[in-house]
Amino acid sequence: MSKLLTIAIDGPASSGKSTIAQRVAERLEIAYADTGAMYRAITYLLIKNNLLLDDEAAIQALLDRVQLSFVRQGNQQALKINDQVVSEELRSNEVTSLVSKVAALSVVREKLTHLQQEMAKQQSIVMDGRDIGTQVLPNASFKLFFVADVDVRAQRRYKENQAANRKQSYEDLRQEIIDRDHYDMHREISPLKKASDAIEIDTSYLSIEEVVQEVLKVVHPI
Ligand code: DC
Repeated sequence: MSKLLTIAIDGPASSGKSTIAQRVAERLEIAYADTGAMYRAITYLLIKNNLLLDDEAAIQALLDRVQLSFVRQGNQQALKINDQVVSEELRSNEVTSLVSKVAALSVVREKLTHLQQEMAKQQSIVMDGRDIGTQVLPNASFKLFFVADVDVRAQRRYKENQAANRKQSYEDLRQEIIDRDHYDMHREISPLKKASDAIEIDTSYLSIEEVVQEVLKVVHPI
């Protein structure tokens, strides 16, 4: 059997990871996993079940029961939580404002890291998140770290929100991105950090296709 290809893409919120990871996966005809969506799915379930973040036993029981898998919905990827396919639900302001706190819980990280590592053992994959190159796939074939100016990232998210009819002022959204990055970079377990062997790409002033090409240059060195 040929060796599996694993591509890790990390970076702060709205730096373009998911859009690019999905396109690179399509070009290479391999799987794609949006690990942020998995943290969002657990957050969505905690909210739905009225669980408190300090109720570790109840959270563990929920994690023991939950089945997560990626499914195709049109040309987008959606997540199946047990038998329910979710996508928009994971992007609500409520989920977004709580997800960093949920992602800092060790029980949650243990479960999701394990699931993500299992996915990468079964198939070639592009995986995007915050700790893929550092913790989930430290031996990934290729590692990329995206960065982008905060105002450019806030503009991107603002446009996405408008298109999806999610209401939040530009200023609130920009601050939420800054706060979430700070929280993700300073948590105790698996903080957002560039792996020492990751290649950094500043996506601020590049088009989607230009970033895809930069990634493909790294993935297919000539
Ligand atoms: O990429 P995103 O905005 O959908 O991610 C949501 C949150 O999930 C992000 O603020 C931090 C957390 N996350 C994480 O801790 N580790 C990952 N591998 C992916 C996301």
